[in-house]
Amino acid sequence: MSTLRLGDIAPDFTAESSEGTISFHEYLGDSWGVLFSHPADYTPVCTTELGTVSKYKSEFLKRNTKVIALSVDGLESHKGWIQDINETQNTTVNFPIIADEDRNVSELYDMIHPNADSKLTVRSVFVIAPDKTIKLIITYPASTGRNFDELLRVIDSLQLTAYHKVATPANWEHGQEVVISPSVSNEEAAELFPKGFKEVKPYLRLTEQPNLN
Ligand code: BEZ
Repeated sequence: MSTLRLGDIAPDFTAESSEGTISFHEYLGDSWGVLFSHPADYTPVCTTELGTVSKYKSEFLKRNTKVIALSVDGLESHKGWIQDINETQNTTVNFPIIADEDRNVSELYDMIHPNADSKLTVRSVFVIAPDKTIKLIITYPASTGRNFDELLRVIDSLQLTAYHKVATPANWEHGQEVVISPSVSNEEAAELFPKGFKEVKPYLRLTEQPNLN
């Protein structure tokens, strides 16, 4: 295993999941992807996380994004636990959970951090673009549940900045002003952003958010 970094191709794999066998790249197709690990089935924080993600299905769909969860527990464990998630979180789990009992995927993606826990996966998140490059890596410890609103916010930024010569400032949210990429000259900016832009400093130019599509 080598360390995965932004811009690397997300390693492909074939694995068993709660929704059948998955060939990762084929499964993602032309979509964006989120691959996220959780430490263990039948644990409280993970139960709330997977329930939350299932309620966000339409938000991920709007962003042309497929979500896949993973832990090192087996398929039968996943299937039993999904019933508990559905019952306790008032939802229906609607994405695959990989059963990575042999740790093949966890090791490919460096999801086990031995100084945190020698056996269980940490809370890793990888966002993968349609060209299969890794656009975002975040790692949380087992004791901290993730903020999936933040994940949607970052996907909005990744998708916007993939298609337009802009970047998103601190705490940016969909619909707010964006900054113009430093590589864009003022002449080019005038063409690219016909509604205009504010030059606060030569390196800090703000413009209305371009449309995502
Ligand atoms: C949890 O999901 O609640 C959890 C899992 C492993 C360690 C600590 C918390």
